[in-house]
Amino acid sequence: MAQSPHIQVSTAERITTIRFDRPDKKNALTFEMYAALAAAMEAAAGDVEVRAVVLAGSRDCFTAGNDLGDFVRTAQGASGGDPAAAFRFLRAIATFDKPLIGAVAGVAIGIGTTMLLHCDLVYAGPNARFKVPFVDLGLVPEAGSSVLLPALVGPRRAAQLLLLGEQLDAPTALDWGLINGIADDPDAAAQAAARRLAQAAPSALRITKSLTRRTTRDTVLEAMRIEGEAFAERLRSPEAMEAFQAFAARRPPDYSRF
Ligand code: COA
Repeated sequence: MAQSPHIQVSTAERITTIRFDRPDKKNALTFEMYAALAAAMEAAAGDVEVRAVVLAGSRDCFTAGNDLGDFVRTAQGASGGDPAAAFRFLRAIATFDKPLIGAVAGVAIGIGTTMLLHCDLVYAGPNARFKVPFVDLGLVPEAGSSVLLPALVGPRRAAQLLLLGEQLDAPTALDWGLINGIADDPDAAAQAAARRLAQAAPSALRITKSLTRRTTRDTVLEAMRIEGEAFAERLRSPEAMEAFQAFAARRPPDYSRF
């Protein structure tokens, strides 16, 4: 099974906890980390002993999203790492048929927010912040978020997030239905929910989850495929390169020449 020093996977009381652990880089996700995440999700899906999965970060940071250095390397066609690993992880969470629970502290940016759209329950700390700045980066939405986000919060609010790139604080995320609750210790809240679910009738739970997603599942998978094509094209665009260079130079991007 693919492993990464920056992804901690543990299973106890029939709950697998998958933790992002790269705090010096705000838990930004590399190809290597995606491969480990995909492997851990696939293993949890295939293990009858696992009844629920919790996705968590560190105490002050969920994840700052995709590693921007990896984006640049992909855009430049550099070898090393497997860009398909991110899609494997996304497919694994989109098709996961057991309860998936998010525990968010601090920033959840880009895929840090869009992966939550595939969770059944999300608990966030008071310091949680949610942002999907794809357009700010010259990119487009991924993870089925072009469909899932408007469906969850409504098209107007989705435009605030996806077009304006606005950041949501925890109370607003709760008000908009992006999260289930705010807890001083979101890890503990997520584990408590997972423990309840781990004791529930497993087949009834799985079938209930699949029934609630029956009408949207194929649409979401199709959206992920179409988004993936647009994303790959955008990643190689001069707009995206300007955004990545601006981030590295700690300056705002300048799109005036496009
Ligand atoms: N990819 C790669 N490195 C990242 C990163 C990312 N997505 N997010 C943060 N980092 C790195 C920074 O480069 C910095 O590294 P350094 O110490 O070697 O310079 C370190 O993590 C700490 O980040 P910093 O920006 O100094 O912390 P901050 O508290 O001022 O800001 C964020 C934190 C998350 C708000 C800010 O780093 C940010 O906006 N990151 C980019 C988020 C993003 O656009 N993600 C992609 C979405 S598709």
